[in-house]
Amino acid sequence: MAFNFAIARMILFGLALPGMSLTATVVRAQSVRLTIDTYKTGAKIDRNIFGQFAEHLGKGIYEGVWVGRDSKIPNTRGIRNDVVQALRALRVPNVRWPGGCFADEYHWRKGIGPSSQRAVTLNSNWGGVTEPNTFGTHEFMDFLNQIGAEAYISVNVGSGTPQEAAEWLEYMTTAQATTLGKERAANGHPDSYRIPYLGIGNESWDCGGNMTADYYLSQLKIYSRFVRNFNLAQQDQDKMLRIAVGPSGEDSPRWTEWTETIMKAYQQHTWSWDIDGLSVHSYTVGKWPPSYASSGFGEAEYAQILKFTLQMDGLIAKHSAIMDKYDPQKKVAMVVDEWGSWYAPLPGSNPGFLVQQNSQRDAILAALNLNIFARHADRVRMANIAQMVNVLQAMVMTDKEKMVLSPTYHVFKMYVPFQDATFVPVVFDAGTYTYGDITLPRVDVIAAKDKAGKLWLAITNVDPNQPLNLEANISGLVAKSVVGETLTAPKVDSVNTFDSPNTVAPKPISAKVAGGKLIMKLDPKSVTVVSVE
Ligand code: AHR
Repeated sequence: MAFNFAIARMILFGLALPGMSLTATVVRAQSVRLTIDTYKTGAKIDRNIFGQFAEHLGKGIYEGVWVGRDSKIPNTRGIRNDVVQALRALRVPNVRWPGGCFADEYHWRKGIGPSSQRAVTLNSNWGGVTEPNTFGTHEFMDFLNQIGAEAYISVNVGSGTPQEAAEWLEYMTTAQATTLGKERAANGHPDSYRIPYLGIGNESWDCGGNMTADYYLSQLKIYSRFVRNFNLAQQDQDKMLRIAVGPSGEDSPRWTEWTETIMKAYQQHTWSWDIDGLSVHSYTVGKWPPSYASSGFGEAEYAQILKFTLQMDGLIAKHSAIMDKYDPQKKVAMVVDEWGSWYAPLPGSNPGFLVQQNSQRDAILAALNLNIFARHADRVRMANIAQMVNVLQAMVMTDKEKMVLSPTYHVFKMYVPFQDATFVPVVFDAGTYTYGDITLPRVDVIAAKDKAGKLWLAITNVDPNQPLNLEANISGLVAKSVVGETLTAPKVDSVNTFDSPNTVAPKPISAKVAGGKLIMKLDPKSVTVVSVE
């Protein structure tokens, strides 16, 4: 079907040449001109927008991160070395844990103390499997330490109490010899832990307790007051950012009202409660329940999913406008702490484990969303892709001792230079890519200057058929050289598998500087990141 459409379009635009067989493909490069003025800079692209999400869900933690100390899979204190090594390269800024829906049924005490004595509970949200609680607070903090990331803890508001959450925070953060501080030391960690990000509940309008906005607000005020950084010596210098539950991504008055309720209350907040962030959850699903295939699809599904994903921009703009009304100084960050693709479960997998493939379409989807976050960097200061390992749009997939890097992983790695870089506006006419009744911008570009002043560009050629000739005029910089990498694949649904792990892998891009201009040719359906000096 995709092929027929391509042929129809070629004929429509007079692209079929005399004598050309109807099975031939016309590949005519399109062009895009960019103008980059490096004197003009925007907001800092907070490195936290490259955050990850690791929930006790399917094989996200157990097998994906935690294999146990006695496992034959090489590990450090039970945490698998291959996954750690892969994630370290991404410079993951923060990891949100333990959920998700799981967080509102998580009771932290079950996950501390001698492993063999920990309670086995039920993971009723995700597949109804048993939860051994062998990966608890200490193991999570060890994992963070191994990958070099910071903690974003979601506390249980749905089925817990403010006391339980406050005690967990005291257990983790106090530097004093309180009973809880001593218990932490007895469990192997005399030093207090640093918890820079605290989520107060998760989707409290749904799996987190089916609360109305007003009811949640009353809970938020209580938790914000009592659940805090108990490291008194550091409380002022080392602020723990509190993130309130915000709206879902659907386009409905219910969600704008939710944002209104929380932000209006924030405007009137007193010294005794406060928030620093408002979360937004928005998955690229297409239709509910998730039914788009994650592999074995064609151009139609490629175009449809990318159309859905681009709605992220309007969603952020809509909720930002409400936030601006009550917080014009943009003190409260928008935290998109669940985003990514959510497709039909892989045939044969436990549907509660949310296992899906990760294709070149996901690489493009990831780049487009990261670009959207970067453009809204003044408000969007944190985001967490769902999820890190083996679940939904994962960075890596594991199968016993094997591990494979996903196309999305490669995009996150290529984008590392954008962490904490300063946004530089780019002017360009994106042109269009059309499939059936779907028309999308053909190209997307962001630019930023890193701390050393080096200019970086990320360019996505959305068009799956046509290469793109790019020419960039850069003012404020005498360009001499350009180097970088590009990620493309044979097909829109190409994936990496345990047997063929490098079907989708970055390769060096051939680009040049001529007459002060940057010139390169971009493959169809590609993501490219270059630095210019
Ligand atoms: O990421 C999977 C689930 O999606 C999370 O647990 C929940 O918060 C959301 O609905």
